[in-house]
Amino acid sequence: MEDNILEVTDLITSFKGVEGKIKAVDGISFNLKRGKVLGIVGESGCGKSITAMSIMRLVEKQGGLIEAGKVLFEGKDLLKLSDLDMNTIKGNEISMIFQEPMISLNPVLKIGDQIGEILKVHRNVKGNDNKKRVIEMLNLVGIKRADEIINEYPHKLSGGMCQRVMIAMALCCTPKLLIADEPTTALDVTVQAQVLDLINDLKDELNMSVIFITHDLGVICEVADDVMVMYAGNIVEKASIDEIFDNPVHPYTIGLINSRPENFKKGEPLKCIRGKVPKLSDILDGCPFADRCDYVMDKCKKHKPNLQIIKPGHEVRCFRYDLEKEGNL
Ligand SMILES: Nc1ncnc2c1ncn2[C@@H]1O[C@H](COP(=O)(O)OP(=O)(O)OP(=O)(O)O)[C@@H](O)[C@H]1O
Ligand SMILES: [Mg+2]
Repeated sequence: MEDNILEVTDLITSFKGVEGKIKAVDGISFNLKRGKVLGIVGESGCGKSITAMSIMRLVEKQGGLIEAGKVLFEGKDLLKLSDLDMNTIKGNEISMIFQEPMISLNPVLKIGDQIGEILKVHRNVKGNDNKKRVIEMLNLVGIKRADEIINEYPHKLSGGMCQRVMIAMALCCTPKLLIADEPTTALDVTVQAQVLDLINDLKDELNMSVIFITHDLGVICEVADDVMVMYAGNIVEKASIDEIFDNPVHPYTIGLINSRPENFKKGEPLKCIRGKVPKLSDILDGCPFADRCDYVMDKCKKHKPNLQIIKPGHEVRCFRYDLEKEGNL
């Protein structure tokens, strides 16, 4: 049997807005294998961050509600833990790198103290050892002059530097599971590559498991073992990295792959997926991608397809696959 560090089943997270309730995460299920990287991709607003925040039980602070589902971490349902037990796991066994580094750092704490505090609380590392470890961590994420940086406040640092500090904070307790939400967006290309290398190295050295969220398929190629493509709070396709690129089935996945900038020559116009992501409150019956899909059929507008296994390790939510299977495509 496969060793899954995380098993998410039928997770539903909703928000109440002026236009009624919306399901930001609409009943998703997935597993993360120990020591592997699962990439989550999809356009803005498709539910990537809310999936991560739900696992970390952080959605309530944002006004969201986890309505249903299980989040088993090493067999324990995180959704059933007391706040105290959850806080012990957070930052200790599971860490998250947030999308917005500037707002995630405490503006009134010096960089050294922010990292030092985590080591003190979770690992009981104090005094000189604490300082030494903080500097080590900053060096590890490529921050030079770490002995000076520890005395700076976050507003003195660039976005990229703050992101690296966030990564150091997330990794300082060597978590078993790292959730990285767009961790390289604020970084320039060289630092981006360094950070991806670092995550890959740590994954191997520490047998760390990673959920890596990005809208950039190029970045996913660099890090992920498996990929799950999300659209409007749903998983539309799930497979290994090679399978997703060699044999994408969902029209949305195909659109994402075809619109990658690296597929185009200089001066050639970029090909985008037509239309835009629907507002969750506007989605009625049918497949949420129907309005943008080049292959839409009547059925797609009336019924929502189920996620089905099309071969071992490859799942897709699309009626087109049924036609292909029946030989009618
Ligand atoms: N605080 C909130 N209040 C109400 N609705 C929210 C809130 N946060 C998220 N949502 C809803 O949840 C949906 C998913 O948001 P989420 O942040 O998970 O998107 P994302 O995939 O991470 O996008 P991005 O790539 O822009 O980070 C949004 O489209 C929005 O409708
Ligand atoms: Mg997000």
